[in-house]
Amino acid sequence: MSVLVRACAPSNIALVKYMGKREGNIPENPSLSLTLDALHTVVGVKRVEAAAGWTLQCAGLDAVALERATKHFERVQNAVSELWPSFGLQAVGSAQVSMESHNTFPASSGIASSASSFAAMTLAFLAVLTKDPQLFKAMWSAPEQGRALRRLAARLARQGSGSASRSFDGPWVFWEGEDAHSIQSHLEEVAHFVVLVSRAKKAVSSSEAHQRVKTSPLWAGRPERALERASEIRAALLAGQWNRIAVEVWREMWEMHSLFHTSVEPFSFWEPGSLEVLKEFMPLFADGSPGARNEKTRIPIVTMDAGPNVHVIVPLTEKSMWQEKLRCTFPKYEILKDGQGAGACLLEVSS
Ligand code: PMV
Repeated sequence: MSVLVRACAPSNIALVKYMGKREGNIPENPSLSLTLDALHTVVGVKRVEAAAGWTLQCAGLDAVALERATKHFERVQNAVSELWPSFGLQAVGSAQVSMESHNTFPASSGIASSASSFAAMTLAFLAVLTKDPQLFKAMWSAPEQGRALRRLAARLARQGSGSASRSFDGPWVFWEGEDAHSIQSHLEEVAHFVVLVSRAKKAVSSSEAHQRVKTSPLWAGRPERALERASEIRAALLAGQWNRIAVEVWREMWEMHSLFHTSVEPFSFWEPGSLEVLKEFMPLFADGSPGARNEKTRIPIVTMDAGPNVHVIVPLTEKSMWQEKLRCTFPKYEILKDGQGAGACLLEVSS
């Protein structure tokens, strides 16, 4: 008998960044993100019974990605055999598992592909390593059991890639210490764009960036500043104050990239096009600009991840206007379009 599972997890874009970590991918500061929707990873896994032991085959992964995926599989397998009895589920004892994965966007270019990949892998592994995957699926969709399973999944995914823990909930997610969960907001629904300056794979991995930023003279006080900013944005989300968020997110993006630029040795994810795009938005955030002073005109929420591409978040009601504006202002670059999402889900479970 074989079992097939397909899980989908969206990427997320941090408004307050997770940058700097401790053992087990415990962040130095809380972070806050928007869960995306169309920019996601789909992981398909197939389980075939085996008399004893485990094998995992992963199609199309390079050596580094394969090692991370195998380690993550073992992590989920250990968790399942230890914890499933307390959830009333049974773990599979041995099997041959094969995995396929694809992203709807370019990987490793600052659109948090590790977040969506590890979230999707975690959910797919959890389901496929359960004797009765249909029962797992039913529990995942049930309100209370689902919450407990999502919490477990987010914790496991975090150990593979920290930001993956924010891809199980949505649209606004707060992550502090071991746990990430959605937070209340009175902000209107949003549209999200990426100005795709480059598809090139980034030269410095985020794992390395997490270590290097601690050598920057700007690291002193960074966890405290990020904590304060996360609290400020959380309060602004609750109050539905768009521009208060936009101004803080803009500052946060410059701060994270300044950490990169002042590390020993300095490094940068920026391409000439990144600065070209940022400069277009700069006047909107100038002290005297109407958007930065009041809530009458919405200024876009602009940020960058650890990559050269620029993320732009606008009210959904202004989506077409901004799409046209971005297209005309940056004719050289592809514009990816997305919206807010609700987190990882199971697309298919069949046996
Ligand atoms: O989850 P990691 O280790 O790939 O780190 C992600 C770090 C940033 O994407 C730069 C920021 C964030 O909070 O997502």
